[in-house]
Amino acid sequence: MKPHFKSAKEIKVGVVGYGGAFNMGRMHLQDMQKAGMTPRAVAEPDKARLAVAKQDFPGIQAYASVEAMLAKSDVNLVVLITPHNTHAPLALQCLRAGRHVVCEKPFAITSEQCDAMIAAAQKAGVMLSTYHNRHWDGSILKALEVVRAGTIGDLVRVECHMGAWNKPGDWWRSSKSISGGILYDWGVHVLEYTLQLVNSEIAEVTGFAKRGFWAQQSKWGADTVEDEGYAVVRFKSGAWATLCITNIDANPKRGMVEVTGTKGTFLWEYDSHEIIVRDGDATVVTKGKNPPAQWERYYANIAAHLTKGTPLAITPEWARRPIHILDLADRSAREGRTLAAKYG
Ligand SMILES: NC(=O)c1ccc[n+]([C@@H]2O[C@H](COP(=O)([O-])OP(=O)(O)OC[C@H]3O[C@@H](n4cnc5c(N)ncnc54)[C@H](O)[C@@H]3O)[C@@H](O)[C@H]2O)c1
Repeated sequence: MKPHFKSAKEIKVGVVGYGGAFNMGRMHLQDMQKAGMTPRAVAEPDKARLAVAKQDFPGIQAYASVEAMLAKSDVNLVVLITPHNTHAPLALQCLRAGRHVVCEKPFAITSEQCDAMIAAAQKAGVMLSTYHNRHWDGSILKALEVVRAGTIGDLVRVECHMGAWNKPGDWWRSSKSISGGILYDWGVHVLEYTLQLVNSEIAEVTGFAKRGFWAQQSKWGADTVEDEGYAVVRFKSGAWATLCITNIDANPKRGMVEVTGTKGTFLWEYDSHEIIVRDGDATVVTKGKNPPAQWERYYANIAAHLTKGTPLAITPEWARRPIHILDLADRSAREGRTLAAKYG
């Protein structure tokens, strides 16, 4: 794509969704400001949150809906920070209005939604990307360094596990129809780590799901997310990966991600890691803190892409890969069989 702007300042950003759960709208606008872009507008139906946005960024245009923002504002890059089931429809609306779009993770819920978004961006000649900030988490940066150095030998498998004994909260993340399911929130981050590590095409996916344990105690009833979601991914290289996100884990496993190679293991928690390798008859364990995250590289890349034509770090095709795995896992769990991947 040819550069669209002479300078990052010309990139006028509109944020859609200024929610309070993690104050993500504020974080995005601050990070885009650091990358030289101009915060211009916020669209948010919740009046109290819109008031917070106006306080955070005095003079920012405030709209109650994306329709009003697209009709009245000169924003040329829209960032979607809304619940998961709104990503595809809002992205299509903004792309068809000729705006560049950054969509929070997960990119969408189904592979078909990703396809439609990619086609709309191509038709409009605009940029589409997903905010995979955790592409630059310290843990994955360290894991890639260790794997690429050959310290743990040839990569065999990646196991991702996040769980607790945990009644789903009242928030929208606990609704299957809004969130996509229990695997869609953190699952998409750890799958994106996995895809960086495995570096091979996806061959097939098998999914499993346990439902109904928490549903009666949840405000979402039958629409409550699965108690546990589980996916097994077979890669064309012969490596495999597992993903388990669970709310029924009385005995939570150690480590969030475990990478096993022919010579050793790299095990990580959010802040720390262990490298466990065999040296003859001995097992050598090296423990360390993960290096700092480099999330600022995401918007630095977006600005460089739009002003200089630097290749996008997170292309929509890359962002479709973890969604394809999640979509296949969901369908596989319902159909009780393994499904071949359409997109490697
Ligand atoms: N990348 C990360 O590290 C990270 C961290 C937290 C959240 N997220 C993602 O950010 C997104 C939002 O999550 P959150 O925790 O901020 O949720 P939230 O509930 O705090 O905020 C969502 C906001 O979107 C608004 N909204 C809903 N529909 C809208 C619409 N059609 N137009 C405009 N606004 C609308 C709601 O009023 C709400 O204020 C999700 O995709 C989530 O996965 C990413």
